[in-house]
Amino acid sequence: MNDARSYAREHAPRFRQQYETLLRIPTVSTLPQYSGDVERAAQWLARDMRAIGMDSAEVLHLPGGRHPLVLGEWHGAGESAPTVLLYAHYDVQPAAMEDGWDSDPFEPVERDGRLYCRGSVDSKLHVMSQLKALESLLASPGGGPVNIKLLLEGEEESGSESISAFMAQQPQRVRSDVAVISDGVVLAPQQPSLVYALRGIVTMELHVEGPAQDLHSGHFGGTLHNPLQALAEIVAQLHDADGRVSVPGFYDDVVEADAAERAQLAHSNAWSERDWEAVAAAPLHYGEPGFNTQERIGLRPTLEINGLNGGYSGPGFKTVLPQRAMAKISCRLVPQQDPQRIFDLLQQHVAAITPPTVRGELRQLEMGSPAALLGRDTRAMRAAAAAYEHAWGVAPLFERAGGSIPVTYALQEVCEELVIMGFGYRDGRAHGPNENVHVDSLERGVNAAIHFLQGIGATYNSLQV
Ligand code: BES
Ligand code: ZN
Repeated sequence: MNDARSYAREHAPRFRQQYETLLRIPTVSTLPQYSGDVERAAQWLARDMRAIGMDSAEVLHLPGGRHPLVLGEWHGAGESAPTVLLYAHYDVQPAAMEDGWDSDPFEPVERDGRLYCRGSVDSKLHVMSQLKALESLLASPGGGPVNIKLLLEGEEESGSESISAFMAQQPQRVRSDVAVISDGVVLAPQQPSLVYALRGIVTMELHVEGPAQDLHSGHFGGTLHNPLQALAEIVAQLHDADGRVSVPGFYDDVVEADAAERAQLAHSNAWSERDWEAVAAAPLHYGEPGFNTQERIGLRPTLEINGLNGGYSGPGFKTVLPQRAMAKISCRLVPQQDPQRIFDLLQQHVAAITPPTVRGELRQLEMGSPAALLGRDTRAMRAAAAAYEHAWGVAPLFERAGGSIPVTYALQEVCEELVIMGFGYRDGRAHGPNENVHVDSLERGVNAAIHFLQGIGATYNSLQV
């Protein structure tokens, strides 16, 4: 019998209640009016870390940071045992009824075998899976098999600035033998997957200005270049007719995957296709020629227009010639692409194609983060694979994910081995209305997290013998 797992089973109803308590705190990190809620959640998490018997739990307010980082430590496994850092984020994306939610976004509701709430899959499922796995291990007679640093971030959805500064200034506080980034999703409920790559990201705004102020389009229309039109013309030149990014140099550093890796990834394409049909459900596929859906998500960089703004778009009509226009643009990056270089290339290209009839400026928003590529043949990967197989009853497939977790690259520098363990499903509608998890996700997550830590403990112990 495994004590930690039977403890988890016995306490599953309370774990679920605590998960719901955390879900009710609207930890939206991008909007300042939620700062008090983010702080409240941080304090709640630190309190629970102390309650489950961790040696320390700190709510860290870092210089220049908007929201606290919570760091809990437990060193009861002794000096000869390895240290595992567990990372997850407790902040969430904004959510409001008018975005299309069927129920209050911050009140967890169970319907048809799913639990609906903002943050349910991204990423409080992971915060609670790791925290409750630790509780189960610390409460069982053998105690924890490894030393633990539990690092919970409150700014992942809004730039990860504090944590990056913290890691640069105090790397010894996070340095560990193994790091687990607990976030993301597996391929399907019947098919777990092990993510070994994440894309990087760089975000920017393109500002285009024309006349000194908004003008009457009758008095001045036809005599000057409308900034919205100029912006649309610039933005339309960033891709070619096939969907490839047409910024010179954009693909220079992209490493082409070899045939063996593409063959291995082919297994997960069928799941990606199914997911695309069910969730994306656009009229027709569109994307870089020569790559399937899974490859477009995992292997290739992108440039996306995330928002356009300018002129009048309210009810009725306004015959206005806008003074300015703006586009929000982001690029997803693959290994070897440098966020700064990509921004510089875009800035040069935009300057070259901006007509003299308007003023254009491309501004970088965040520092950006490079992509991460993890070793697939490491002790931590093997322990993660065994943990998924244990919790799902099926061995995981390898997968490259398309999302970004900004801290990944920096964590790789200070931890010997790193794995990504997500317990959600892609139909969980992360970032969208009606975000949800399957009701058994938390139990599976806790189980997999326990199994992983026990596996790491056993691997390191057997090496010492
Ligand atoms: N959970 C996601 C990251 C993710 C998505 C991992 C899909 C694996 C698969 C995370 O919370 C997220 O949304 N990150 C942002 C980062 C951005 C705001 C800098 C993202 O990818 O857009
Ligand atoms: Zn997210």
